Amino acid sequence: MIDAPIDHVAIVVADLESAIALYTRTLGFTQIYRETIPDQAVEAVGLRAGDSIIELLRPLCDDSPVARFRGEAASKLHHTAYRVADIVAELARLKAGGVRLIDECPRRGAHGNRIAFLHPKSTGGVLIELCQPAGDVRDRL
Ligand code: CO
Repeated sequence: MIDAPIDHVAIVVADLESAIALYTRTLGFTQIYRETIPDQAVEAVGLRAGDSIIELLRPLCDDSPVARFRGEAASKLHHTAYRVADIVAELARLKAGGVRLIDECPRRGAHGNRIAFLHPKSTGGVLIELCQPAGDVRDRL
């Protein structure tokens, strides 16, 4: 985990089209993917940010965990994802160290990445995701 780069920072938004316009036209980021992630009930839009990605999340239904997290806010920082080479080994190491895990086993994130969330109760209230990219992430940047 030491030196793990940031894979992406995810922001949940109420109005995805307005958020895309803000991040591309106003701030100058480039959109590199847009896809539905059924497992998390979100539509995700990735924006290139150097070697990292800003990911905008739009909940697909009002009662999903991500939608409840946003609440009444127009947008809200949802999680930071750190890129790891071996997610299964990292999860085992963290669990052995007493970290509470939301996902004991990796699940599918955007574009086939293997991801797992750590429980905010173990991470100072901040939601942290571990992310093992499918293939070379730089192919997409
Ligand atoms: Co994520």
